[in-house]
Amino acid sequence: MRVGFLQYSPVFGDKKANLTRVGKMLSGEKDALVVLPELCFTGYVFKDRKELDKLAEEAVGPTVEYLAPITKDNNLFLVFGMAERVGERLFNSSCFLSPEGEIKMYRKAHLFNMEKTFFAPGDTGFPVFDIEINGVQAKVGLLICFDWIFPEPWRILALKGAQIIAHSANLVLPYCQDAMITRAIENRVFIITANRTGEERDLRFTGRSQAIKPSGKSLIRVGEESQGIWTVECNPLEAQNKMVTERNDIFQDRRKDLYRIEAK
Ligand code: ACM
Repeated sequence: MRVGFLQYSPVFGDKKANLTRVGKMLSGEKDALVVLPELCFTGYVFKDRKELDKLAEEAVGPTVEYLAPITKDNNLFLVFGMAERVGERLFNSSCFLSPEGEIKMYRKAHLFNMEKTFFAPGDTGFPVFDIEINGVQAKVGLLICFDWIFPEPWRILALKGAQIIAHSANLVLPYCQDAMITRAIENRVFIITANRTGEERDLRFTGRSQAIKPSGKSLIRVGEESQGIWTVECNPLEAQNKMVTERNDIFQDRRKDLYRIEAK
């Protein structure tokens, strides 16, 4: 199965220009799962909630309407970050869009820093979605940026059968990319981190988007400033094997009987 990521520097607030640019980049891709960064069409550093409110849209809105024909024509599964409006609430969401136009959302559970003043905390839990590309099937879980520092959602997704975790990011701290190697090893899953690059207001983003195998080995990692789409071949079935020695299945060996914190 062909999987990959897009890394670029969006123009803050110019959804139309960003969609046009990403649309052109995607037009050369076919038969793949492509992960895009967090909030990849709006930009990230909102002055206040009002500014975010103007850029947010419902799941079925202009962004999905623009991307759906591209995913259909090119047989692409896309995962991309968006500012999602649900009634009065605004979520930092990740949208899963299939070639058939199926739309599924994950809403960021762990909000980072100033995000807490604009966004509502996610209410979707950690769903897993099925994909099939040219006869190869996989289960895909979605997480967003700062979710990386919490081991729990990764383990939950892996226990729910996710073989690939699509991680859309706007990373500013320097150590996530390396930490993802551990997340891949401890759950024996593929991890695709699509990060953005460039600067926005007072923040600089760290790029270095990557795809990692269940063994922790790197399939690909790009530079801090690179912009483009990169795809690689992966076999999702590798993530079914949770054995690290012939006697250690990391899921069977979990000591659930000991994993309790005594109430005081
Ligand atoms: C982040 O969660 N965007 C750092």
